[in-house]
Amino acid sequence: MLADETTAYAPLLRRIHWATAVLFIAAMLLGFYCGLQPPGTSPRRELLEVHKSLGMTLLFLSILRLMVRLATRVPPEPSSFGAPVRIAARLNHAALYVILFAMPLTGYAFSSAGGYSLKYFWTFSWPRLLADSPAIADAGEVTHDALAWLVYAAVALHIAATLWHAVVMRDGTLARMWPRSGNGRG
Ligand code: HEM
Ligand code: HEM
Repeated sequence: MLADETTAYAPLLRRIHWATAVLFIAAMLLGFYCGLQPPGTSPRRELLEVHKSLGMTLLFLSILRLMVRLATRVPPEPSSFGAPVRIAARLNHAALYVILFAMPLTGYAFSSAGGYSLKYFWTFSWPRLLADSPAIADAGEVTHDALAWLVYAAVALHIAATLWHAVVMRDGTLARMWPRSGNGRG
């Protein structure tokens, strides 16, 4: 089913959503894998560089996304959404937006204050805005690791809900975010 521009998100927001989905899931899986490996070992060290670079990319993509989100029209929820589904979807989306900023910011904070590498894909180093501070580094790391559980739960719920809407309800929810929704301009 195709949605038109009154029932779908803005084309740029949809593109950013799918770019985010790919990069985010890659960052999340790399973070999960590296979290299981002992510090200082290979390939954890190399994969963490990729993880951090993906995370910094996501931070800037999310700033752009928020601006597009605030500047464009959000389509009203389908009438098939009852109040509980509407509330659950809004809470899930709000949690995902919090995560999209909180994960890169806490990751950056603990890498910067802890004196860890901040190289962007083996090119330049991000400026260290937080000088060496074990207290900030510890707080950033504890928050980053604790929020990882919210990440797994919110993303799993989000994907499960999309599947439920697409396969069971067949109510066009996926079309609201599908890149080619609308009259060919999506
Ligand atoms: C959207 C962006 C990000 C997501 C979704 C994310 C997610 C995760 C996850 C799920 C873990 C595993 C936590 C654990 O097992 O305890 C992790 C670990 C880690 N993340 Fe991120 N992260 C992001 C951004 C960043 C950034 C920007 C940096 C640094 C600049 C960073 C640095 C790290 C480090 C160093 C670890 C290993 C921590 C440890 O072993 O204690 N992350 N991340
Ligand atoms: C395979 C993975 C994914 C699928 C199938 C998917 C699917 C969807 C769909 C169908 C919508 C529209 C929902 C509606 O209109 O009520 C949506 C919205 C949304 N998705 Fe995803 N998504 C995925 C991954 C992600 C990831 C990894 C994130 C962020 C971490 C994310 C964040 C959001 C947010 C915040 C919205 C609300 C729209 C907005 O305000 O920008 N999605 N997603």
